[in-house]
Amino acid sequence: MAPVIVQTTPFNDQKPGTSGLRKKVAVYSQPHYVANFVQSIFDVMDGIRGQTVVVGGDGRFYNAEAIQIIIRMAAANGIGRLLVGRGGILSTPAASNVIRKHKAFGGIILSASHNPGGPDGDFGIKYNTGNGGPAPERITDAIHRRTGEITEYRTVEAPDLDLDRLGETRLDGMAVEIIDPVADYADLMESLFDFGRIRAMFQGGFRMTFDALSAVTGPYATEILENRLGAPAGTVLNGTPLPDFGGHHPDPNPVHAHDLVAAMTGPNPPDFGAASDGDGDRNMIMGPNLFVTPSDSLAVLAANAHLAPGYSAGLKGIARSMPTSRAADRVAAKLGIPGFETPTGWKFFGNLLDAGMATLCGEESAGTGSDHVREKDGLWAVLLWLNVLAVRGEPIGRIMTGHWREYGRDYYTRHDYEDIDTATADALMADLRAALPTLPGKAFGDTSVEAADDFEYRDPVDGSVASRQGVRVILKDGSRVVYRLSGTGTGGATLRVYMERYEADPAGQDRDAQEALSGLIAIADRIAGIRSRTGREAPSVIT
Ligand code: G6P
Ligand code: ZN
Repeated sequence: MAPVIVQTTPFNDQKPGTSGLRKKVAVYSQPHYVANFVQSIFDVMDGIRGQTVVVGGDGRFYNAEAIQIIIRMAAANGIGRLLVGRGGILSTPAASNVIRKHKAFGGIILSASHNPGGPDGDFGIKYNTGNGGPAPERITDAIHRRTGEITEYRTVEAPDLDLDRLGETRLDGMAVEIIDPVADYADLMESLFDFGRIRAMFQGGFRMTFDALSAVTGPYATEILENRLGAPAGTVLNGTPLPDFGGHHPDPNPVHAHDLVAAMTGPNPPDFGAASDGDGDRNMIMGPNLFVTPSDSLAVLAANAHLAPGYSAGLKGIARSMPTSRAADRVAAKLGIPGFETPTGWKFFGNLLDAGMATLCGEESAGTGSDHVREKDGLWAVLLWLNVLAVRGEPIGRIMTGHWREYGRDYYTRHDYEDIDTATADALMADLRAALPTLPGKAFGDTSVEAADDFEYRDPVDGSVASRQGVRVILKDGSRVVYRLSGTGTGGATLRVYMERYEADPAGQDRDAQEALSGLIAIADRIAGIRSRTGREAPSVIT
């Protein structure tokens, strides 16, 4: 089969964001759109020829079509071996694991993560490198440059491959192997956690609900929780991946995971509740009538990780993204290990993990993970929680209160203003940046600004610098406001405002977060003029 060279012209919008190239399905389904981007990846990743490459996605609408295009192009571009998840399915952390375990050169992951799916929803393509993690910016920048120059791509003429049949076939000179998407991942989890103890906890009557939101984690959660750990059938809700996620917005937060919230706040709730997102890398953790913020979850998991076999030797360091609360820093300090503060985007953890400087990482955006793969990992976080609960034998509510009593509590909230006009959002950020030198000393009520800056990160491993990563305002009482624009949206702009306040006094640690932060929320609005500029009276989503 001779490769077919197809003439094409560049699209001017193929710039990857925080996590891959995300666009509406209508954009992706234009002729040549996928092909141009994928050829740009192959062109930039020169050494990929003859190597193993992993392909899979979260099963959303257009997943299978894109995979067929990629299979043909991979054959025409001289890829040696392609590992494809059965049915085109691979959760993002599972893909990261397959890349590492099979020593692949890299992987192409098809997902728009927590964005809605279906014909009117979003699609995405992300390239991961051989360490299993998202490509660093110098590579995504090069891919973007290439998309602007591309004049042709290579493919072969061949019928669609049956993605549902396990086993190996050949296409041109390339081997294509359809692999079980769950097995390697479930084995990895079994090697990290004390499945015997968790199984005994379920046998003792412990009840949980896991909401897969009709997205990719359904098969993984069913195999691990129900089959391997013996949780009763029905523990996993919405467990079949659907192309439109059954109309769910597959973002595990209190707004979108409403079935879970209903189960955990109704009468007689289970002991533990969790959810994951479209591609399985995010997590949401709940107890009976209790939402654990991702920032607190990272801190509690870091303080208790040694209770799981995979982390019994202790942690090397803890890393968090800048807008994530500083609760994890307090744990790092107590453990006497380094704490790192990186820009938003999981890719920034990659070097720290590869260099053995950090073991656990986490983000306020419901991402937690460790050095077991190079992506955040929703089910991993759920299993670490289960391991901690099984060993400590205490209800989750008591574990949270105990943590705050020991370390103090970092009240935390994020307010999102979604789909605001891009020009308005850009002007708001530009004016904030321009006002930075004038902010220190400025009074707001009975407090004033201590320091303000635009976060810049110098990677301690390779020295690369990422600047303009978000405006931070620290007040005299130590509380903090962070402003940044989302890098993952596909329409308009989303302004994210992150607010936190430390409470050391146990008597003040059991308040509602919105109420405890109300003063700071008002100050955050005054500093940036959010309501007056956007015309919005309230945020679209509060987490
Ligand atoms: C994705 C990335 C995360 C990031 C999150 C929020 O999930 O993998 O690392 O924190 O998006 O990004 P955003 O730019 O929308 O705040
Ligand atoms: Zn995701």
